[in-house]
Amino acid sequence: MALGEGCPAGGSAYAALETSMRRRLGRECLYVPSCRLGLYVALRHWCPPGGRVLMSPVNDDVIFFVVLAAGLRPVQAPLRPWDGTVDPAAVPESVWRSLSCVLTTNLYGNPDPAPELRARCEASGIPLIEDAAHAIGSRVGGHPVGTFGAASVFSLSKHVGAKTGGFLAVADPGMRARLAAERDALLVPSRLTADLAYALRPYAEAGVRGLRLARAAHAVLRLLGREERPEIRMPLRPGELARALGTAPGLDRFHSWVRVDMHDYRLRPSRVRLRRTARLLAGLDERLTVHRSGTRRLLASPWAGPGADSGADSGAGEGEGQPLFRVPLLVEDRDAAVAALARHRITTGYLYDPPLDAYAGEAFTDPSPAPEGAAWFARHALPVDPRRADQVIGILRAAGIRPAAPPETSNGTRGTSGTRGTSGASSNTRGARDTGTRSTGGIGGTHDTGGIGGIGG
Ligand SMILES: Cc1ncc(COP(=O)(O)O)c(C=O)c1O
Repeated sequence: MALGEGCPAGGSAYAALETSMRRRLGRECLYVPSCRLGLYVALRHWCPPGGRVLMSPVNDDVIFFVVLAAGLRPVQAPLRPWDGTVDPAAVPESVWRSLSCVLTTNLYGNPDPAPELRARCEASGIPLIEDAAHAIGSRVGGHPVGTFGAASVFSLSKHVGAKTGGFLAVADPGMRARLAAERDALLVPSRLTADLAYALRPYAEAGVRGLRLARAAHAVLRLLGREERPEIRMPLRPGELARALGTAPGLDRFHSWVRVDMHDYRLRPSRVRLRRTARLLAGLDERLTVHRSGTRRLLASPWAGPGADSGADSGAGEGEGQPLFRVPLLVEDRDAAVAALARHRITTGYLYDPPLDAYAGEAFTDPSPAPEGAAWFARHALPVDPRRADQVIGILRAAGIRPAAPPETSNGTRGTSGTRGTSGASSNTRGARDTGTRSTGGIGGTHDTGGIGGIGG
């Protein structure tokens, strides 16, 4: 089968990938061309249109638009400031009673409290859906993230690095055929240009890196109208979004938001893509080992924050620690840290600031009843690729980057997390809070591409 030729419907071409993931997770898995499409399928399947979804406000904005496209109302959850995980105890009873679904994020691979959320969902008779895009090797209470909810979704663009593909995993294997049909109905035919671009992209990126052409590449993308994130968050375009909402559920009118960073998100995959993905997935365990070891080193650094010993490590099992996708170091002045890394040609991606309620406003989402934790985390988190742990630690140290001072609690004192860890950061130098002026130098939009200036695809 040639480049650009889509795989046959019916999913037989996905069998090897699905078998591999099923073994890893112990759950039925369905291949999807992107995690976001898998999430859309899950939300449509489990949540009636008009339903309300509890989600994390520190999250990729693409996910916010997927929830809207599914005809659902996002409800932003309170987060713990030290690790950006959902704090179920801070969700008011009135909010719990109004929900039709809970969607976890497991931000950067730090597990949300899945057993607790599952118990709450069971008590309310609503589904738990786990977004495990960042958490393919993370565990909670000894069990893999993605095995707690009715459904979970994984991205093969993160640890695996395939830049395409994902899985929808389900608790009930009997649902497989129906979900496969729902997925297939959403796929669009493979295009030669898209597959050519996919096949050539790794070479092009290596070239850009080698020739130090990041700035020129950005200029070309701007000229082509392909630079979709001039800031961390994509432009909301509220008027257009309000008109699209009137047509939800449905992907077509939300395409321009949902495709950001991955225009091929609903393309029927070609064999070229599947073959490359299978090769990369076969190397996942080695990658996870590298992530685990870099995570350990970053969590032992002065910027780890007091949640480090309990959040990322707890539940991983066998004292191994989590293989975080990115380690959110907590720094006082993130712009300064991003700039210091950029001077060493390290792009900071996967920033989610401001939180979604501040970004989108009440026209499009219920705000968090307690937004402070999310705002603090979003402002101070510096997501670091654990594969570059030693280099980043050296750069931050040389640049004099200070750990974030603990957030102020409602009674005006400097607090620790309350529910997490001890006061590991309490001896940190206190500094002035940053003022919120955000330079985009060295920021790779939501995604990064391992050091070439965040060229999105
Ligand atoms: C938290 C989260 N969930 C889901 C996704 C979507 O993954 P994909 O790009 O495979 O659709 C992303 C993408 O970065 C993400 O950050």
